[in-house]
Amino acid sequence: MSTTTTTEIKSAEDSTFTFATQFEAKDLVEFDPNRVYGDWRDEFHKTGCVLIKNVITPERAQYYVDKQVEWLKKFNLGFDEKNPDTWTSEHLPVNFKGGMYYMYGATHEKYVWEARTEPGVVDIFEKLWETNELICSFDGQNISMPNRKDLTWSPWPHCDQNPARKRMQAVQGLLNFAPNGPKDGGLMLMRGSSKLFDEFFAQKRDKKDVKWFEDRGCEMYKVNMDPGDFVLWDSRTMHYACLPEGEQIRHLQYICMTPRKFATDEALEAKKNCFENYLGTTHWPHCNIRPSAEKPMRDGKLCPAYRTEPFEKPEITDKVLQLAGVKGY
Ligand SMILES: [Fe+2]
Repeated sequence: MSTTTTTEIKSAEDSTFTFATQFEAKDLVEFDPNRVYGDWRDEFHKTGCVLIKNVITPERAQYYVDKQVEWLKKFNLGFDEKNPDTWTSEHLPVNFKGGMYYMYGATHEKYVWEARTEPGVVDIFEKLWETNELICSFDGQNISMPNRKDLTWSPWPHCDQNPARKRMQAVQGLLNFAPNGPKDGGLMLMRGSSKLFDEFFAQKRDKKDVKWFEDRGCEMYKVNMDPGDFVLWDSRTMHYACLPEGEQIRHLQYICMTPRKFATDEALEAKKNCFENYLGTTHWPHCNIRPSAEKPMRDGKLCPAYRTEPFEKPEITDKVLQLAGVKGY
């Protein structure tokens, strides 16, 4: 399947390991560049990113907004979605980058798995990879409050693929739940940048160099979304998030799926361990499995709301087990 594959286990701190760190040097699937699909895949293959409308209904999106709010309130830290004074760290579970949640079993809550197994969501990845034998990441959810007074933010354009991994190795996704207009923060994507990834890193330029891409015809744009929309982007795409400045809380979940056949036994074993212990991962479904086993710390002390299981455990169906990589097809 691949020309250069190395597998290693890299240890960082105590419980942080990365399993199945494969570095492929070619696309994992060959896509015919001349093929016309007649759907969103044409834009995706041309630019490396695409917005797909109405993947779930607005009602279903509102259900996930409500579940996310309910989840934040279960920690009993005083968060009130109607009171901006409570939109601060002390009233929220520990999170990253203004609202990404990976700890506390968050990535295995029942509603999180419901979102991953939405038929419209699975259909996107089945179409993209042209197989229904998929596995998913145990990626985070993002609940970002606007106008946070306790946060400083600097935009950080980046790619989520290690330059040692060449060509298209993963495609990331985001299922959007709340209205997300120009002032509501969120995803900035550089259209076309994925195609220049290898060339960019081969020249050893500053990886934050947006201008290098602009000079080659790429365009950075803010993706505006309605509830129920889905964004897909090649992991080599230059992107960043801007903080919301309006009144609207940002609600979404990151979802990523790749064919099960891309995964080694080591990766599947690591995923099984994450699934059974309610640990999150990054967006990589089939390799580079880094269990999010860090504990939530506040002022150097363990968060009193620390927990290792979801409040509501997922319903274990064949589809969930298959996407988790625990059960074969
Ligand atoms: Fe990213």
